[in-house]
Amino acid sequence: MSDLTFEIETNAAPRSAGDRAALMANPGFGKVFTDHMAIVRYSAGRGWHDAKITARAPIPLDPAAAVLHYAQEIFEGLKAYRTADGGAALFRPEANALRFRRSAERMAMVPFPEEAFIAAQRKLVEIDRDWIPDTPDGSLYLRPFMIANEVFLGVKPASEYLFITIASAVGSYFKDPNGTVTVWLSEHYTRAAPGGTGAAKCGGNYAASLAAQAEAANQGCEQVVFLDAAERRYVEELGGMNVFFVFEDGTLLTPPLSDSILPGITRDSIITLAREAGMTVREELYGIDQWRDDVRSGRQTEAFACGTAAVITPIGRVRGREDDFTIGNAVAGPVARRLRTLLVDIQRGNTSDAHGWFQKVF
Ligand code: PLP
Ligand code: COI
Repeated sequence: MSDLTFEIETNAAPRSAGDRAALMANPGFGKVFTDHMAIVRYSAGRGWHDAKITARAPIPLDPAAAVLHYAQEIFEGLKAYRTADGGAALFRPEANALRFRRSAERMAMVPFPEEAFIAAQRKLVEIDRDWIPDTPDGSLYLRPFMIANEVFLGVKPASEYLFITIASAVGSYFKDPNGTVTVWLSEHYTRAAPGGTGAAKCGGNYAASLAAQAEAANQGCEQVVFLDAAERRYVEELGGMNVFFVFEDGTLLTPPLSDSILPGITRDSIITLAREAGMTVREELYGIDQWRDDVRSGRQTEAFACGTAAVITPIGRVRGREDDFTIGNAVAGPVARRLRTLLVDIQRGNTSDAHGWFQKVF
């Protein structure tokens, strides 16, 4: 057990109710931030200490802080949902805490205690409760992260870290919450290599994906599809989401986890919910040639992206240097819609939850 206790320092100058309402009217994603943050320090001598919920503010960083040079940084993403009774709930926060630990281990960082991770999220949601949207697509997106802030230019795992969680009132990640997205098949760039950091949620993976994401945006596409780095053949995932394929016989397929795919909590939840609903889910390698053929032949009826930010977003069209194919008439298909309802109903507490995934905060 960790004995970290969060001291609460209430923001002396929070946003007014009017300002908050104006900001939350159309929040988009990741632009509207709350009044507080959680912050905890680590040093080799003292361990994790100085845990606080305090006013959200810039963090002073020495220009030689290790994160600024060697990118020792990890993060998480989870959401707090407004429940019908006016309360709030988290979805599987212990899964994020565990993945955060694994990311820390991969990046040679000191793991943050899982119970303190969950406590930080709960306390922040409690204190910033007025920032949780009550719209059907709205939620409070929590962004825990950890940086190496030791002041040292030698290349080695740092001995000082900062754990922080900030919170952002969000609407849907993509512009049209009921639409489909077009994805760009990245043939030149890869996201993650065998033995690399693809299964860790570290900022460097996203930095490495940005040139491909910019290429996608230039082509009018919302996300990038990455192929495996070794053979450039198997579909792995999107820049910020896992991927599922649906076939005419109702079966689902998603690429198997490896050290180059982020183990999504949404992915894991969908596999469980789909199997409980009687569907067959295969975790198998899926080649790009097969994808083209299956869509052309009509064997594949739907494909969708999934993640905390994206929830379940159908993929309507795939484009690439030599590709342009449309899946299921580019409208949200019945399997994606059904799974989305099953998932969202648990997240928002509209249905019973047999898995202990839904965790009430207040
Ligand atoms: N893959 C990548 C690269 C991601 O950034 C995310 C988002 O966190 C996911 C998959 C989906 O993970 P989760 O469902 O845990 O949000
Ligand atoms: C999330 O879904 O939490 C992510 O980190 C993905 C990112 C595209 C916002």
